[in-house]
Amino acid sequence: MNRRRQIYEGKAKILYEGPEPGTLIQYFKDDATAFNAQKKGTINGKGVINNRISEHVFTLLGNIGIPTHFIKRLNMREQLVRQVEIVPIEVVVRNVAAGSLSKRLGVEEGTQLSRTILEYYYKDDALGDPLITDEHIACFGWASQEEMHDIADMAIRINDFMSGLFAAIGIRLVDFKLEFGRVWENDFARIILADEISPDGCRLWDMASGEKLDKDRFRRDLGGEVEAYQEVARRLGLLPDGADSAVLDLETHRKKLR
Ligand code: TMP
Repeated sequence: MNRRRQIYEGKAKILYEGPEPGTLIQYFKDDATAFNAQKKGTINGKGVINNRISEHVFTLLGNIGIPTHFIKRLNMREQLVRQVEIVPIEVVVRNVAAGSLSKRLGVEEGTQLSRTILEYYYKDDALGDPLITDEHIACFGWASQEEMHDIADMAIRINDFMSGLFAAIGIRLVDFKLEFGRVWENDFARIILADEISPDGCRLWDMASGEKLDKDRFRRDLGGEVEAYQEVARRLGLLPDGADSAVLDLETHRKKLR
């Protein structure tokens, strides 16, 4: 499997050339970074869990009519996806004040927002992914007005769906990040959901205890990140009770044999 051509390596994933033109293989690493990679580490088994969680969420979103890049999961760490031209904008959806919003505006973390906030960040590591507005997007041509309309519309639908999905398993969807891409059909570009949806790019708080079940455990040195990611997968019904560690042990074991 290692003979494939690598197309791109990001902080948490690697993209390889896929088996058909227009497809890619998305490989989920255990690497974790925060604060624009100033903090680096690994979360054992994270890639396996995120691959499963993202498969699950993208499949459900597909079922409600959100077009996504997801085609199928191939194995524990890889999924087949459609190749897209990534829109260089990180879309953050916020339901509850936390993280950079709390810091920037002095709003206490955990404050329920009176309306959902959509934010855009320019995807550029060298600049530290700065916050931008529709004006910058239009001025610099990062996406057309029509594309931004579709993106905002999908982001709101995804938020409504995911808020319900997580609420049903006792998790508060505080905020999350989405990325979109273009697929070309003849001369027309269509926007579809790309990247991943996992505890790496979401804030997920246990509704009863307020406990953080996401990458903030790593960002803030809270510990227990593996358990938190497993708990999300378990509540989504992706790990049978008690089987979680067995699955991950098998993966670790295989890695040693390689
Ligand atoms: P923030 O409060 O740090 O701006 O993060 C908002 C949400 O976006 C949070 O759920 C984490 C996610 N996120 C990413 O997925 N990647 C990033 O680079 C950043 C800054 C945030």
